[in-house]
Amino acid sequence: MLSWLSLLLLISISWISSVSATSGSFVHCLLSHSQPSHPISAAIHTPNNGSYSSVQQRYIRNLRFKTFSKPYLILTALHVSHIQAAVVCAHRQNLQMKIRSGGHDYEGLSYVAEVPFFILDMFKLRSIHIDMESETAWVQTGATLGEVVYGIYEKSKTHGFPVGVCPTVGVGGQISGGGYGNMMRKHGLSVDNIIDAQIVNVKGKLLDRKSMGEDLFWAIRGGGGASFGVVVSYKIIIVRIPKTVTVFQVTKTLDQNATDIVYRWQHVADKLDNNLFIRLILDVVNGTDDQKTGRARFLALFLGDSDKLLLVMKKSFPELGLKKSDCNETSWAQSVLIFWKYTNGTANVHDLLNRTQDLAYFKRKSDYLKKPISKDGLEVIWKRLIELQHVALTFNPYGGRMAEIPAKETPFPHRAGNLAKIQYAVDWHEAAKEDYYINLTRKLYSYMTPYVSKNPRVAFFNYKDLDLGINHNGKDSYSEGKVYGIKYFKGNFKRLVKIKTEVDPGNFFRNEQSVPTLPHGRY
Ligand SMILES: Cc1cc2nc3c(=O)[nH]c(=O)nc-3n(C[C@H](O)[C@H](O)[C@H](O)COP(=O)(O)OP(=O)(O)OC[C@H]3O[C@@H](n4cnc5c(N)ncnc54)[C@H](O)[C@@H]3O)c2cc1C
Ligand SMILES: *[C@@H]1O[C@H](CO)[C@@H](O)[C@H](O)[C@H]1NC(C)=O
Ligand SMILES: *[C@@H]1O[C@H](CO)[C@@H](O)[C@H](O)[C@H]1NC(C)=O
Ligand SMILES: *[C@@H]1O[C@H](CO)[C@@H](O)[C@H](O)[C@H]1NC(C)=O
Ligand SMILES: *[C@@H]1O[C@H](CO)[C@@H](O)[C@H](O)[C@H]1NC(C)=O
Ligand SMILES: *[C@@H]1O[C@H](CO)[C@@H](O)[C@H](O)[C@H]1NC(C)=O
Ligand SMILES: *[C@@H]1O[C@H](CO)[C@@H](O)[C@H](O)[C@H]1NC(C)=O
Ligand SMILES: *[C@@H]1O[C@H](CO)[C@@H](O)[C@H](O)[C@H]1NC(C)=O
Repeated sequence: MLSWLSLLLLISISWISSVSATSGSFVHCLLSHSQPSHPISAAIHTPNNGSYSSVQQRYIRNLRFKTFSKPYLILTALHVSHIQAAVVCAHRQNLQMKIRSGGHDYEGLSYVAEVPFFILDMFKLRSIHIDMESETAWVQTGATLGEVVYGIYEKSKTHGFPVGVCPTVGVGGQISGGGYGNMMRKHGLSVDNIIDAQIVNVKGKLLDRKSMGEDLFWAIRGGGGASFGVVVSYKIIIVRIPKTVTVFQVTKTLDQNATDIVYRWQHVADKLDNNLFIRLILDVVNGTDDQKTGRARFLALFLGDSDKLLLVMKKSFPELGLKKSDCNETSWAQSVLIFWKYTNGTANVHDLLNRTQDLAYFKRKSDYLKKPISKDGLEVIWKRLIELQHVALTFNPYGGRMAEIPAKETPFPHRAGNLAKIQYAVDWHEAAKEDYYINLTRKLYSYMTPYVSKNPRVAFFNYKDLDLGINHNGKDSYSEGKVYGIKYFKGNFKRLVKIKTEVDPGNFFRNEQSVPTLPHGRY
């Protein structure tokens, strides 16, 4: 079977020559829309510019896609007028646009395409304006989550925002796709704390919440920005946080009763005090006898000090045996770094601004856990994990605020009734072994079938997984889109399609897993 990527390579080679003519007139169109006060030429990178390859590579975060990205132009927008010109000109020529903010898309959808395309790169539009009086901020989508955390930290040590756990992720993808972080049990998702937004629509108009209307505003809080327009900025609510928070990590291997404790975790993790988020990671390590063994890592953030945390744990989860010496009391901003790459060493808040990241080849998949897995089930899973060796499972507990917000409130549908989201992760470093490693995740996904959500077996949109279906955006776009759309959005898919059809009937804003338009005469 020809993989998506080999197909892509073949196609992209044959396209290169046929697109240069379009490219010339596209550049021409961009230049003709340039405002004297904000010249667009400074934002245009074609293969003739020396800057092209470094800009193209800069925000590729998955080595799998390093060699497949051959846009014939990258526009590093410096001003909203550049976004507007890009949309107007690309729409006129029906040229595929990929929008990239932080570049963390798991399948490279923000910078890889099967057809001639250009990248609208947002990383230069990253201003953050915080207003402590109203406890809100306007954040441009090219900012990273780390910059948002740092910006808030500079203004206040007792405020924060429910961001994701990796500081280099971009605001554009994280928020528009319904991002979560380790405060979700207390404050919900990022999208549950958004009160306004700016978007450039298919006509090149800049809209805010009032002028875009409540439907579109709903859609870009979890339905993925790339299907609806270019999100320029979000207005976020800054939430209150105690001055001291506590992070801990406790690990248990199989001979330390990991199975019993994991079993118990499933019964408490979604019911605990909302201030406590205990992530569970299952992986494989060398045992004392050099045999592979299973390891459970309990990595937690508590919004409070360690004395309070110990009381909560004693009452709700004594089986873990948490000790005061396991606890690291710190500021929220530092906790973000500690949680990200768990270390006992120092967490320097300036690292939040570091946009450079160690890269690997990787594949991710996701599932939802609705009810606890039996001890027998856990034994089977350990056996499979040890067999496959390289795949890790991360369980992010739900409940709390997540269970209170109705499933239709935002496009993100996974609310009450979910115990945890599961992420499958495999990283590797040898390009040639891609098939082997990706297969491991698919095998584990298959083994997990009895334990996770079914009919439909749902997934998290921000954990983009092309195994769930690909849209070729041909005449079957709707039927193709429905396959993955229902898995990501459940009952909210229908409303997303309706909004998409209203705001972008020609399906200009599209990618391999975008929300499709309604075919004529359906519904
Ligand atoms: C190391 C790592 C850790 C992660 N941790 C978390 C986590 O804790 N919580 C979580 O929720 N997710 C997490 N994710 C997933 C992450 O939220 C998604 O991959 C997200 O889409 C990345 O956003 P981005 O802007 O960096 O990516 P990009 O690749 O730039 O964009 C992702 C998608 O959004 C679209 N898009 C980007 N910007 C815009 C815009 N301005 N307007 C319209 N569309 C836009 C792109 O076209 C693409 O389809 C993680 C990913 C990685 C790689
Ligand atoms: C790329 O080259 C063109 C043509 O020489 C020039 O106008 C443009 O400013 C260059 N882009 C950048 C970012 O320097
Ligand atoms: C594992 O559990 C058993 C029975 O509950 C207990 O006796 C034993 O001490 C535990 N072992 C460890 C390492 O915690
Ligand atoms: C684990 O054991 C293998 C041999 O079975 C060895 O090659 C590897 O280096 C060990 N890893 C660690 C982290 O000790
Ligand atoms: C952190 O400290 C604890 C307790 O001192 C120790 O058991 C653990 O191994 C340390 N972890 C790291 C990553 O250094
Ligand atoms: C806790 O984190 C702080 C900040 O990074 C660090 O300085 C300290 O050494 C850590 N303490 C422990 C016990 O890990
Ligand atoms: C930023 O992070 C990268 C990757 O971890 C690291 O190599 C680099 O030294 C860091 N840069 C700074 C300025 O700390
Ligand atoms: C991966 O799985 C596919 C489909 O099952 C199979 O054809 C292929 O041989 C596998 N590749 C490797 C390297 O295991």
